[in-house]
Amino acid sequence: MKILLLGSGELGKEFTIAAQRIGQIVIAVDSYENAPAMQVAHDFEVINMLDGDALDKIVAKHQPDFIVPEIEAIRTERFYDYEKQGITVVPSAKAANFTMNRKAIRDLASKELGLKTAKYRYATTAEELQKGVEAVGMPCVVKPLMSSSGKGQSTIKTEADIEKAWNYAVKGSRGDVVEVIVEAFVKFNSEITLLTVVQNNNPTLFCAPIGHRQERGDYQESWQPAKISDKDLYEAQDMAEKVTEALGGAGLFGVEFFLADDGVYFSELSPRPHDTGMVTLAGTQNFNEFELHLRAILSLPIFEITLEKAGASAVILASENSTNPTYSGIENIASLPKTDFRIFGKPTSRPYRRMAVALVNDTLETPIEEVVEKAKKAASLVTVHS
Ligand SMILES: Nc1ncnc2c1ncn2[C@@H]1O[C@H](COP(=O)(O)OP(=O)(O)OP(=O)(O)O)[C@@H](O)[C@H]1O
Ligand SMILES: [Mg+2]
Repeated sequence: MKILLLGSGELGKEFTIAAQRIGQIVIAVDSYENAPAMQVAHDFEVINMLDGDALDKIVAKHQPDFIVPEIEAIRTERFYDYEKQGITVVPSAKAANFTMNRKAIRDLASKELGLKTAKYRYATTAEELQKGVEAVGMPCVVKPLMSSSGKGQSTIKTEADIEKAWNYAVKGSRGDVVEVIVEAFVKFNSEITLLTVVQNNNPTLFCAPIGHRQERGDYQESWQPAKISDKDLYEAQDMAEKVTEALGGAGLFGVEFFLADDGVYFSELSPRPHDTGMVTLAGTQNFNEFELHLRAILSLPIFEITLEKAGASAVILASENSTNPTYSGIENIASLPKTDFRIFGKPTSRPYRRMAVALVNDTLETPIEEVVEKAKKAASLVTVHS
């Protein structure tokens, strides 16, 4: 099959490697040359993926069987057309289109499907935001409708924060939409990603839940399995099944939940491998999340997903701008037991950019906190230089 991969970061790179291993053809696309997935794909294209005409051109040129989005910032409205042309958009045009805008996916989850979410409102002006804040209460979180990785996101604690939050969200908005969602701050005890694998002709399967910690809008460590009660897990699985079914198509979804004293809150989802799911590269499961995504897309039956080990991932970030990043400490991390790492091969670095990841596994009996600590220590051994 010929796969047009839209977005060529570290997740796309692992997906491409999985596809290469079973003989598929991948054309990797991104806005810059030498992106991680391009380094392992058959061919590549450099375009602005928010430009619909540029997208149309490469779709017409390559005539792919599958379009696999790896990021949100794509002119996803075009996907409906590609579906009509007979191309399989993964997992579906609707899933990609709805999740690129927080409004579409939140209204689907909350209003249409009745899933429990934080109380929320939308706003297109600072005045509307003021009203929204009154409706949901403080503290609350403001996010641009179109953004990811925490861009433009801030927490309002007092009246004085409202205008700041508005301006910050406008600056952090992607695309042409200037609208925000304001949602009540959920005092969660933990948050999880539930990797959900929707198959074409077989039952939906769930990976063991993944715990994670966020900082500045990006995950810092993730671990599997996360601690969760049976009741909360069934509830999360039930919600994940409902929302993925409503979005349609086959593939792996990363469904995000908050676990609070008063139950499970649906937060958002990625209709594709999730960054916190990189922990599966530590060998926690019989198949990692990229292999699962690929198999589900290709309609290859997945009999079961088994949890083999406890695992943790910890990110390795750059601290400076560079057009020639180099790495030290590789021998040190390599010398650790039950430890592995990935260097993504990004051609440039900037402060806080994720450049590599440390991966640790251990027996399922090992307390998960210990595994996370080991991953953090392993990550701290590697330094990115400019
Ligand atoms: N209503 C909320 N209450 C408490 N914390 C929240 C709330 N909304 C978001 N957060 C925190 O901010 C993080 C990022 O939020 P969210 O996942 O909505 O944004 P994002 O920009 O789409 O992030 P990403 O694309 O990296 O998943 C969450 O994982 C959570 O830690
Ligand atoms: Mg998120």
